[in-house]
This record gives sequence, structure tokens and C-alpha cells, in this order.
Amino acid sequence: MENFLIKAAPISDILPGLIHAFNTAGIETASLDARLLVQHVAKLTHSEFIQHKALVLSDTQSETLSDLVRRRLKREPISRILGHSEFWSLPFLISKDTLDPRPDTETLIEHALEKIGPRKNEPLRLLDLGTGSGCILLSLLHELPFATGVGADINPGALEIAQKNASQLGLNERAKFQKSDWFSTIEGKFDCVLSNPPYIPESELDELMPEVRHFDPALALNGGETGLESYEIIFDRAKEFLAPSSLLLLEFGQKQDTQLVEMLNKSNLKPYILNHDLESDLAGITRTLAVNLSF
Ligand SMILES: C[S@@+](CC[C@H](N)C(=O)[O-])C[C@H]1O[C@@H](n2cnc3c(N)ncnc32)[C@H](O)[C@@H]1O
Repeated sequence: MENFLIKAAPISDILPGLIHAFNTAGIETASLDARLLVQHVAKLTHSEFIQHKALVLSDTQSETLSDLVRRRLKREPISRILGHSEFWSLPFLISKDTLDPRPDTETLIEHALEKIGPRKNEPLRLLDLGTGSGCILLSLLHELPFATGVGADINPGALEIAQKNASQLGLNERAKFQKSDWFSTIEGKFDCVLSNPPYIPESELDELMPEVRHFDPALALNGGETGLESYEIIFDRAKEFLAPSSLLLLEFGQKQDTQLVEMLNKSNLKPYILNHDLESDLAGITRTLAVNLSF
């Protein structure tokens, strides 16, 4: 793998070797990944790539491509190699400090928008706990033209990226990012508190795919012994930060729904719950919890 070397040649001659190497390494998206890396190095859009397969990569481009292919063969995800990802059809920068945003998390955006419904043109205040790349807060601000929000994370490296994403999406004026251990530095009341906290039980971290285990930050994955430790804190303190009529929206892991609803019903939020409901992702896995509250 370390010796993988691509010689200057037309793209059409290079591709089959790349796809073969990726397939042999057990990479399921071999053809797509090969195309994306070649496109990146040759600076081609998808349609240009289709039209320019006879293009010959220069020596420098071939060397760069060899490096990137070696990284992919070590199971670094394409999004991390390219430094950006797509979420809610918007571009997001990512880094070693941020989770690579998952399509599953788009369920949280859908669920939030459904619950916010008729309030979508109000000047809502949003709080996104464990904001990472900022994908949840920024996607919602993109959809809610009068909303403002705070994205909080314990990792300053993630906050830097989230801030860059806000600038890139033209949302700087409506999004503020701040370092906080969950609610520790948060002030004020919010109409909607959202979070996709780390939820993998510590004992299961070693079973994750190499792309996740080795490249997503542990801080974004490790949910402690039960996987649900962050939710305990969120349920316990949310009351202080929720507006009189407000929403709490949480993403969680597979098969955590029953336990999470039990935790909610045992929490100090219980007397203020108007209703709650669960939403499933595209694979049919129950993924998000929305709680309507009145104080
Ligand atoms: C599962 S990731 C979610 C990132 C992003 N919101 C997303 O959905 O892609 C969890 C995030 O929680 C942050 N985090 C972990 N512990 C935290 C804590 N004690 N206080 C605040 N944020 C924390 C991590 O740094 C990480 O960015």
C-alpha cells in the first residue's frame, strides 16, 4: 500500500487500477472514490471529467493522486481527504476536530422543521449543543430566515471550523459559536435546543468501521459507559435554558429510543412536557426525539 504509485498517464488508463486497488482493500464505494480523487487532483467537475478522460495527468498531479490514494487505502474517508462534506445539500468544511456530518442527522433537521412548522418566520432562538462542524445550526438557519442561534462545543478546533462554515454560508450575522461544556457557559433562553451528542457506548467503539474509528474524533463518538451520559446532563439542565413555549430535539443511536424516553420521563422536564414524538431515518431506524414543552 505504501508503494502505491501512479505514473503520468491518461485518466482512462489510471482509473481501472485505482478501482481495483480500492475493491481489493474492501472499499465498497471503489468507483465513486476513484473518480472523486481524480476529479479533485485534475480540478474537474463531474461533467468535465466525463468529457476529458483522455486528459493526461502531469507528474505532480500523479504524485498528489498517489498520496491521496494511499490515504484512502488506509481507510481515511474521502470527505476527510478532500476536507469538506455535504449536509442538507450545503457544503461544510470538516477537520480532524469535527465529526463528518452524517445523512442520518438530516432526520433531525427534517424533524425540527416539521415541529417548528408555523413558527418558521418568527425570530426564533436556537441552541445547538455539540455543534461540531455547525451543520445542524447552520442548516436550520439556512431554512429559517429570521432565526438566530448559538452553536456550543467543548472542542475549540471544532468551533473554528463551524465559524468558517458560517462565513462560507453567509450566516455569520445570525450564528454565534462558543466554547461550552454542554450548558456551562450558555446564557439566556432558547425556543429550540438541539443536540446530536456522542452516543456510542465506550465498549462498542472498537467495533466501529475503520473510517469512523480512526478518523472521527473520539470526543464526538464516546457516549460513556451507557452511551447515554450526555443526555442525562442535557435533560437535567435544559429547563434553565428553554423559553416558555419551546422544543427539545435530540438525535440518538440505534435501539436507544426506549431508554431515552424513560430517561426523559424521569427527568425534571416531565411536568412541562406537552407531547413527544420519535422520527426514523431513511433506513427506518428510529433516530430523533422531539419534545414540546411549556413552562
Ligand atoms: C456526534 S458529534 C455531533 C457533531 C455535529 N453536531 C453533527 O451532528 O455532525 C458530538 C459533538 O459533541 C461535542 N462534545 C463532546 N463532549 C462535549 C461536551 N462535554 N460539551 C459540549 N460539546 C461536547 C463533540 O466535540 C462533537 O462535536
